[in-house]
Amino acid sequence: MGKSFAVIGDPIDHSLSPNIHSAAFRELNLDCSYIAYRIPTGELEEGIEGLKKIKIDGFNITIPHKVEMMKYLDKMDESCSLIGAVNTVTNKDGVLKGYNTDMDGFLEPFKKKKLNIENTKVLLLGAGGAARAIVAGFAKEKAKNITIANRTLENAKNLSEFAKKIGLSANAIKIEDVKDSAKDYDIIVNATSIGLRNEPSPISLDNINEKTIVYDIVYMPMNTDFIKKAKEKNAVIIFGYEMLLGQAARAFEIWHHMEAPYNAMKKALLGGF
Ligand SMILES: NC(=O)c1ccc[n+]([C@@H]2O[C@H](COP(=O)([O-])OP(=O)(O)OC[C@H]3O[C@@H](n4cnc5c(N)ncnc54)[C@H](OP(=O)(O)O)[C@@H]3O)[C@@H](O)[C@H]2O)c1
Repeated sequence: MGKSFAVIGDPIDHSLSPNIHSAAFRELNLDCSYIAYRIPTGELEEGIEGLKKIKIDGFNITIPHKVEMMKYLDKMDESCSLIGAVNTVTNKDGVLKGYNTDMDGFLEPFKKKKLNIENTKVLLLGAGGAARAIVAGFAKEKAKNITIANRTLENAKNLSEFAKKIGLSANAIKIEDVKDSAKDYDIIVNATSIGLRNEPSPISLDNINEKTIVYDIVYMPMNTDFIKKAKEKNAVIIFGYEMLLGQAARAFEIWHHMEAPYNAMKKALLGGF
């Protein structure tokens, strides 16, 4: 019998995940399907029951359920318990196991492009769920230190405490206090949702150079103002779609126990822009 998969969240109609996974199924001739399923806030428990009833084999979780979903897991792997959020679930006869592939997905482009993280100075904009997975990634790859800049200082401070707990030297500032300090960092990541609605870059990139790695995890639009400003400085660019692809490839491997057809998935994703 064919296997079925889904992505749950709200809003969900613009999700690119069904395209990416369906392309992988086609490429490898797998008898599988993948749908987008809207579950509004407050209806997660019933939503999950519904997915169990139709014997879903696995699903991805996106905004706003990544943290609340932890309550409904029977098991979790280390990435999931460390980050405190779940984006990928397997269902084996009603037993739900959670994983977080955002961290590996975030790191994947560095590996593909052979860009070094060890001993670098990092500026991370944002302190939400995605930023937490990113902090775990920088700790794993042994960055030298991380400055977390956020609109709400309190959230940056909490994330900075988490970073220190897992062995990464960290400090927290308000995002408007970044001012002209972008040049002091090797890697700058935007993990706020600024850019989704074509807002201007959250910080000035005026004095960065061609060695600075600038990574925007916002993937729609592909060329945010933050990315455009980095391109003007000939910086090394990593796009949000690269992380999206990385986390999808990792989820594919968890579900299907085989290497993800990365290029077919990439083609399908880029076709969606
Ligand atoms: N490429 C990928 O694979 C991938 C994966 C995950 C997420 N994402 C994207 O990453 C973004 C963040 O996701 P998330 O799950 O971390 O969301 P989240 O938990 O809601 O966090 C949102 C972050 O953005 C900040 N923010 C929101 N609006 C702002 C504004 N107007 N001005 C300044 N700061 C603002 C928030 O600051 P406060 O703390 O002050 O509220 C917080 O730091 C989303 O756009 C999401 O689509 C991409």
